[in-house]
Amino acid sequence: MNIKFNIKTVKIYGVYMGENNQKFIIDMYQGEISIAIWGCGYIGLTTAINFAINGINSYAYDIDINKINQLNKGENPIPNLEYWCGTNLNKVLKSKKIKFVSDIYYLENCSIHFIAIPTEKNMRPYYGALMQVLSDIIDIVKNNKKINYIIIESTLTPGTFDKIIIPYLKRNNVEIGDDVILAVAPRRDWFVSQEKNLNNLPRVMATYKNYKTKEVKEILSIICKKIIISNNYKSVEMMKSVENTFRYIEITLANQLFLAYPDENINEVLKLCSTKWNMQEYYCSFGIGGYCVPLAAQYLIEGSIGDESLSIVRQAQKFNMEYLDRLVDFYNLKRFSKIGILGLSYKENIKVFKGSPTIKLCEILLQNNIEVKVNDPYYSSDEIMKYTRCNKMDIGDQL
Ligand SMILES: NC(=O)c1ccc[n+]([C@@H]2O[C@H](COP(=O)([O-])OP(=O)(O)OC[C@H]3O[C@@H](n4cnc5c(N)ncnc54)[C@H](O)[C@@H]3O)[C@@H](O)[C@H]2O)c1
Repeated sequence: MNIKFNIKTVKIYGVYMGENNQKFIIDMYQGEISIAIWGCGYIGLTTAINFAINGINSYAYDIDINKINQLNKGENPIPNLEYWCGTNLNKVLKSKKIKFVSDIYYLENCSIHFIAIPTEKNMRPYYGALMQVLSDIIDIVKNNKKINYIIIESTLTPGTFDKIIIPYLKRNNVEIGDDVILAVAPRRDWFVSQEKNLNNLPRVMATYKNYKTKEVKEILSIICKKIIISNNYKSVEMMKSVENTFRYIEITLANQLFLAYPDENINEVLKLCSTKWNMQEYYCSFGIGGYCVPLAAQYLIEGSIGDESLSIVRQAQKFNMEYLDRLVDFYNLKRFSKIGILGLSYKENIKVFKGSPTIKLCEILLQNNIEVKVNDPYYSSDEIMKYTRCNKMDIGDQL
């Protein structure tokens, strides 16, 4: 890999940065400042690879040692990742700008930390991994005696900064603004399209109390073309759940229309609606999968004042919990003795089964003693059995 660095490169990323900012970015390109990426899943891996291909020393850390070993061998644990990143993992490894590590000892000299660990467990907001990572970063901060930047990419429940992160740092005598700069910059990638990736989607960010906003912008500008700065970290923290909850409600409405008008072609109606200037195209489906969109509603509810607030979101959640049972009745599926399902992932061309409606559908059908087989080219027979308790259906199988 040919990494070009010169003062012009630095200027491309800057508006006016002033002497200090420029030195900071130059130090990154010269390898004097390294970045740590905490978590090597979809989010962390793409962050690490993108910094590395831009010539920045990146240490990508994960607690999953098998994943780290696999990555170090150049084996990509995420199908299609190379297509989204526009590069090959082996090529990035050869550049020596990226190191995959499972020991935090390697991160001791890093002073920019991207947090990309899971913030859900069993489809509920969860902060165990975040607290572990913060505790590890605090140890690093106490030892390296530099200003450390912490940029949180993971999705957060509204209020997490004020209720969890800031008090935790303060309890550990970490001075925000002096010891660490805290930033929030959620991700919006649509992992099946090169047009909607880390580089080209608008990236919204804010820093706590607006400390060193320009520096964080410059860091993010290395990998994202368009940065949108807010001066309110709480708004950025909440934005991610709100935008996905809008989507959640709209998809729910599409599915409600399907049940409310069984004799109409609702997909055709929705397609016609989408010709209106302010409406997106929606389709009826088997439910809402993945973790970003369904969880957004839960993050928003958990961060809110509770009681009767957000009644529309709560009702949508209730509907979605019952939707598959209603669809099974609607199609009278229980009259079949054998059923085949195409697709375990919740969307096309990706290997993510979390929150996939297929899992719940298999569960309902198996409870009714129906023989179910599943086909998904991204999953082996063992994986299909593990996640659905069903056998793999080979295309052409006689069901
Ligand atoms: N995948 C998406 O499309 C997407 C989009 C936007 C936001 N997000 C958010 O980004 C975050 C990460 O999502 P993801 O899809 O990359 O998750 P993922 O499950 O693919 O990967 C998370 C990785 O973090 C590792 N990990 C867990 N605990 C750790 C710890 N204590 N220290 C270091 N590593 C640890 C896991 O082993 C795993 O490899 C989540 O908050 C998610 O909601 C995801």
